[in-house]
Amino acid sequence: MANNQRKISLLVSFLFSVSLSCLCLSPIPASARRQELRFGANGEFKILQVADMHFANGATTPCLDVLPSQIAHCSDLNTTTFMSRVIAAEKPDLIVFTGDNIFGSDAKDAVKSLNAAFAPAIESKIPWVAVLGNHDQESTLTRQGLMNHIVKLPNTLSQVNPPEAAHYIDGFGNYNLKVHGAADSNLQNKSILNLYFLDSGDYSSVPSLKSKYDWVKTSQQFWFDRTSKRLQKEYNAKPNPQQGKAPGLAYFHIPLPEFWSFDSKNATKGVRQEGTSAACTNSGFFTTLVARGDVKSVFVGHDHTNDFCGELKGLNLCYGGGFGYHAYGKAGWERRARVVVVDLNKKRKDTWGDVKSIRTWKRLDDKHLSVIDSQVLWNSSANGLVAPRL
Ligand SMILES: *[C@@H]1O[C@H](CO)[C@@H](O)[C@H](O)[C@H]1NC(C)=O
Ligand SMILES: *[C@@H]1O[C@H](CO)[C@@H](O)[C@H](O)[C@H]1NC(C)=O
Ligand SMILES: *[C@@H]1O[C@H](CO)[C@@H](O)[C@H](O)[C@H]1NC(C)=O
Ligand SMILES: *[C@@H]1O[C@H](CO)[C@@H](O)[C@H](O)[C@H]1NC(C)=O
Repeated sequence: MANNQRKISLLVSFLFSVSLSCLCLSPIPASARRQELRFGANGEFKILQVADMHFANGATTPCLDVLPSQIAHCSDLNTTTFMSRVIAAEKPDLIVFTGDNIFGSDAKDAVKSLNAAFAPAIESKIPWVAVLGNHDQESTLTRQGLMNHIVKLPNTLSQVNPPEAAHYIDGFGNYNLKVHGAADSNLQNKSILNLYFLDSGDYSSVPSLKSKYDWVKTSQQFWFDRTSKRLQKEYNAKPNPQQGKAPGLAYFHIPLPEFWSFDSKNATKGVRQEGTSAACTNSGFFTTLVARGDVKSVFVGHDHTNDFCGELKGLNLCYGGGFGYHAYGKAGWERRARVVVVDLNKKRKDTWGDVKSIRTWKRLDDKHLSVIDSQVLWNSSANGLVAPRL
């Protein structure tokens, strides 16, 4: 065991130096970082969500809420090992970190903690993105400083903020990504799946709501609405004009108040084991999403021992489930990650078309990385969009 831990810590320090030397000696050209996402030859696009790593200083940072027998040999490095294993098992097309990536108040150096926290993703060469939670900024970097650092790391598609909205948008780490149709298909140049990432903030700066959780601001909702409308225009435009809206997925940290609508009984899959620590006031983002209609599911973290998905007014609300070992959890209830797979319709002549369905499951950090709670979140045909099947 000790030997394993040492190997992992060597790996982590190696990855540190690799990523640091990349940063200093050969800045990644913008063109390489703006790499395109697209559906694979298998007609799928797979996303791994990592919620609440709470990484601090590595081998010296103990685990919280594990069984008494597990305490002696457990540290941040178990979070690293879990990530390497789940990436190897799932081989996702994109990895999304939904905040509280580091546990700022225990992290001595935010840069080192971030580098170590993301190391397995960086090493995998798979594109990855991150948004911030409410704990990331409690170390040596501000929220802006954190995003400025994150966007310079290898293989990330994260952005500090969208250039067209940078002058009005609240927060740091609001951006969208397009996922293009399969190569050599009619839709190879179209975004047929849209991903939105938002900064749900940390603590309110309104005096009467001091130390309560923040919310998605009007400026962010305005940006989302404009972006979604622009993407629809592109989707409907020639060549190969498409009907309706391409489906979307939204990722951020703090749950919407509407997550309160579910308990373990009426969630579609998964459990509630604690309350929803949403903002104490409802900023209306749920309504904005439902009204716009392209986003089919929202994925958040923050409440580590909730891992359900529930459907309300056509929108799925899903928790990722706690991933990190230096995060509160429940002893004996395995740390976990959420996987989402988006599938395409097969068309005539064996080429791929538009999006057919959105599925999800979770992976547990047990011996065999058990898959649990597989479910279909959305089908195109069931929602009134014509899905050509021939
Ligand atoms: C943490 O990692 C060590 C070393 O690989 C291992 O022995 C231990 O079982 C892990 N603990 C948990 C809770 O997974
Ligand atoms: C997509 O764009 C490429 C490069 O501009 C072009 O060669 C190709 O014909 C386009 N394909 C379709 C289906 O529009
Ligand atoms: C789920 O059940 C709870 C408790 O019975 C109820 O308050 C809530 O409205 C239900 N939610 C949905 C979406 O049906
Ligand atoms: C999607 O379609 C499958 C297969 O027809 C069905 O089992 C499932 O209930 C549908 N789910 C949703 C969310 O529409």
